[in-house]
Amino acid sequence: MRPTPREASPRRYLMCPPAHFKVTYSINPWMDPTKPVDLPLALTQWEDLRDRYRSLGHTVELLDPHPDLPDMVFAANGATVVDGRVLGAKFAYPERAGEAAAHLDWFRRNGFTQVREPEHVNEGEGDFAVTSSWILAGCGFRSSPLSHDEAREFFGRPVVGLELVDPRYYHLDTALSVLDDARDEIMYYPAAFSPGSRAVLSRLFPDALLATERDAAALGLNAVSDGRHVLLPQAAVGLFDPLRERGFEPLGMDLTELLKGGGSVKCCTQELRA
Ligand code: ARG
Repeated sequence: MRPTPREASPRRYLMCPPAHFKVTYSINPWMDPTKPVDLPLALTQWEDLRDRYRSLGHTVELLDPHPDLPDMVFAANGATVVDGRVLGAKFAYPERAGEAAAHLDWFRRNGFTQVREPEHVNEGEGDFAVTSSWILAGCGFRSSPLSHDEAREFFGRPVVGLELVDPRYYHLDTALSVLDDARDEIMYYPAAFSPGSRAVLSRLFPDALLATERDAAALGLNAVSDGRHVLLPQAAVGLFDPLRERGFEPLGMDLTELLKGGGSVKCCTQELRA
């Protein structure tokens, strides 16, 4: 039986061009400062992602890159926006600390009035994933579990804390991805989570798509869905058929240069939820 095709809904994203992207320090196991980065290629790959969003009818807003902030291309980490409310980020490592102010500044200049400077460490949508029922919140490597309470109070939504245990999957968005926010549908890689968190995920999402180690290691869970199109690293080949079987349209993206920084599709994309 053919699955019923899904419906996309228009999104608004914030992205930052990798004009100054490089790997000069290592704050996750993917980053090897001895490996050269092809900057023109990184830019082309990023532009393909931006253009793909636009051709799907989504709005892409742009943040100005800063020469001293080489990881700024990973715009998902700079804030979390739900119901038009902006919870700023507070980065775990000093190398990225300056990105938080650049994001706050962008929001203030772009008409967002409910903007909170956070008290506790949180790396934005790197560790917060939003569905209609819950905000899923990662901790273990970057965001503090205290940021989960802060998000609950600020957004007034139930926050479900999840502990990450594998350093390769240091952010929630490297191990879990929302496929259909309206229907609370997700995919994730179970081994990235503590046993208790895994049990929580299987209770809340009994029908979730479970990724294999191979697809997780291709950063296949670092995906962005508009409810129908799922943009994900093209190397995560094992996810394509299971996504199609559920009625999604997987779109493989080549972001191999940005993978050298430990990020892919989702890391480059912050969703601005009205
Ligand atoms: N080099 C960056 C870091 O380690 C990559 C961030 C990737 N972003 C993400 N949303 N997972 O902080």
